[in-house]
Amino acid sequence: MTVTAQHREVAAPSPVKLWICANDDLPPAIAGVLATHWLDEHEQQIAGRFLFERDRRQYLVAHTLVRRALALEAGLAEAELVIFRSSRGRPFLQTPDGGLPRGGPELDFNLSHASGYNLLGVVRGHRIGVDVERLDRDAQAIDTIVETFAPEEQRWVARAAQGRPRDRRVLRLWTLKEAYSKARGLGLGLPFDEFAFDLAEDRGVRGFRPPPDDATGRWRFVELEPVPDVLAAVAVQAADGQDPVLQLHHGFPWGRAAPRRIALPEPLHGTSAAGDAAR
Ligand SMILES: CC(C)(COP(=O)(O)OP(=O)(O)OC[C@H]1O[C@@H](n2cnc3c(N)ncnc32)[C@H](O)[C@@H]1OP(=O)(O)O)[C@@H](O)C(=O)NCCC(=O)NCCS
Repeated sequence: MTVTAQHREVAAPSPVKLWICANDDLPPAIAGVLATHWLDEHEQQIAGRFLFERDRRQYLVAHTLVRRALALEAGLAEAELVIFRSSRGRPFLQTPDGGLPRGGPELDFNLSHASGYNLLGVVRGHRIGVDVERLDRDAQAIDTIVETFAPEEQRWVARAAQGRPRDRRVLRLWTLKEAYSKARGLGLGLPFDEFAFDLAEDRGVRGFRPPPDDATGRWRFVELEPVPDVLAAVAVQAADGQDPVLQLHHGFPWGRAAPRRIALPEPLHGTSAAGDAAR
């Protein structure tokens, strides 16, 4: 980038990129070959430990997806990417000495997988967390999830009709909570009743009460249903000059099909007791 007195180039805002990839989008034989060439020793070991072929397949598709998408973003070969994990298990891409061949700020990514679907979020210069869940969860799992919620969220869930309407409310909240805690690298280590979302009836986050150690206005949240009955959520740190558009790619990143473009909502400020009472 050149900077002169007259012409000051501003770095292009980096979009938030998402890939939703079903296991069926990558034939098992191809996933196996790619994994042999691309996955590191640690990933190969994990792939070899699964008891059920179904679980192994999910792992191979998810992790070849991660390496392929990051390779395209970084300008490195899939097998050259060095992925390390924090003490809480959050994976990060190691930026090589001298920076990424494609340039730009460091990449952050986050992965989620749920019975046949893999969701990957990639962004530059700040943190991202994603979560994907299928709506067809059993009633006991739904009840267990609700117990982890903040009181105002439990009240909102209780106002829904039993069955699908209630399940949908529960899983909308759950995906958002997971996405947020995964963006922060805490996973389930963050008590889920310490922060709360205020959701619109159909889709969209109206308010966010952050946990005591976080500030308001630092995050943008997106809810998606990329495939019918598959719910997804994204939490991304708000940053100056951020591209206000999220790019959603379907399938394994082979071709260059144009992504769906979705507007990123404004960063959210905290909800108040009054906001809760109004619901
Ligand atoms: C992160 C966590 C919430 C995942 O929950 P999940 O709903 O079962 O799984 P998802 O499919 O949404 O996400 C799994 C992916 O999240 C990523 N991940 C793992 N730990 C993560 C963390 N702390 N923060 C963000 N992302 C994480 C990984 O890519 C993982 O997939 P992989 O193991 O195949 O690489 C859960 O594993 C967790 O709480 N981990 C933290 C455990 C911890 O605190 N350990 C402390 C050391 S003992």
